[in-house]
Amino acid sequence: MSGGAQLAVVVPTFNESANIPLVVSRLATALAGVAWEVVFVDDDSPDGTAAVVRALAAQDARVRLVQRVGRRGLAGACIEGMLATTAPYVAVMDADLQHDADLLPDMLHTLQAQALDIVVGSRHVAGGSLGAWSEDRQLASRVAARLSQLVLKADLKDPMSGFFMLRRELIDEVVRDLSGIGFKILLDIFISAKRPLRFKELPYTFGVRIAGSSKLDAMVATEYILMLLDKTLGRYVPTRFIPFAFIGGLGVFVHMGVLWALFRGLEASFVAGQTAATLVAMTFNFFLNNLFTYRDRRLRGWGLLRGWLSFTLACSVGAVANVGIATYLFHAAPSGGLWWIISATAGIIVGAVWNYAVTAVYTWSPGSATSAR
Ligand code: GDD
Ligand code: MN
Repeated sequence: MSGGAQLAVVVPTFNESANIPLVVSRLATALAGVAWEVVFVDDDSPDGTAAVVRALAAQDARVRLVQRVGRRGLAGACIEGMLATTAPYVAVMDADLQHDADLLPDMLHTLQAQALDIVVGSRHVAGGSLGAWSEDRQLASRVAARLSQLVLKADLKDPMSGFFMLRRELIDEVVRDLSGIGFKILLDIFISAKRPLRFKELPYTFGVRIAGSSKLDAMVATEYILMLLDKTLGRYVPTRFIPFAFIGGLGVFVHMGVLWALFRGLEASFVAGQTAATLVAMTFNFFLNNLFTYRDRRLRGWGLLRGWLSFTLACSVGAVANVGIATYLFHAAPSGGLWWIISATAGIIVGAVWNYAVTAVYTWSPGSATSAR
């Protein structure tokens, strides 16, 4: 290969060691005559995917690897892979051969010949199909696609597709606005672009996974909702604040439940009950945030203990600020009416923002995750 690659195929991987050699040989066959390279972006898979890629790369300069440590996430991996190549055309494809590599030359020619920003491999245009999908997964896919129409301005038939090719310029245009959360990188690109994208959907049939297992689990649905939130409310508040505040709200119920049981049920003193309830609610909040809000930076092992300590410390200060501000406002009151609600709300908001800001920096600082899932 003289000169740089024309086309880079970015392949995110997590536990795909058995599929790697197949992907490379499929690409070599499908892209004969094209100056291509493949960039595997592996999130430190325990099955040794990265080592398999390195072994192949030793034989073939078209094979490249980006290994990410302490991080997880399909969309984020795709973004880093796209940034790691200098090729003018960049495709994203799964490692399990469910995407049809034979479509890549068509995608490339379409993109080269027509004034388009992006070409999408689609299961929902004439000639494409979901292949052997179960009824309920087909339904879930349709529901998610319908939901995406809320934020998507383009008539994209398969916005959930993980198989597409775009021009480098489009990456440069949107990369700073991508939310990078979850699975839906294509949707993310469409929503983040500040203009209608010129796109075309090419049909293909979604294949059967060759080896390994799917990583699409219940959390993926949560991430999908988070990404949609980020794209709608994210302009006004940090995305993670929304689940953080929601979980905080749940914590209030936990608090009241524990307090009620100890104070009313076991006749503990109010101070004892309130202290225990606060600790339980904080712990509950800590674990839920670690599971959902900071899924991608999840703390484990000793990191969990450290995280819990810093979380309770931060939130204790937040509680003092909350009560202090609410009390101050309450006494500064014109007296009577609904002023108590306003005072309490102001205290809660200040406390929540403090808790969020401090724990985002100290408890779940970027790079704090102890190990990948
Ligand atoms: N680096 C990295 N990090 N790669 C990941 C991660 C991750 O956290 N999670 C999954 N992958 C890789 C997998 O190894 C695979 O190559 C690809 O991303 C897709 O993962 P699958 O687990 O095979 O997903 P799927 O088949 O259920 O879903 C696919 O089809 C959907 C269509 O409904 C994906 O292409 C989705 O993006 C697509 O929406
Ligand atoms: Mn798959």
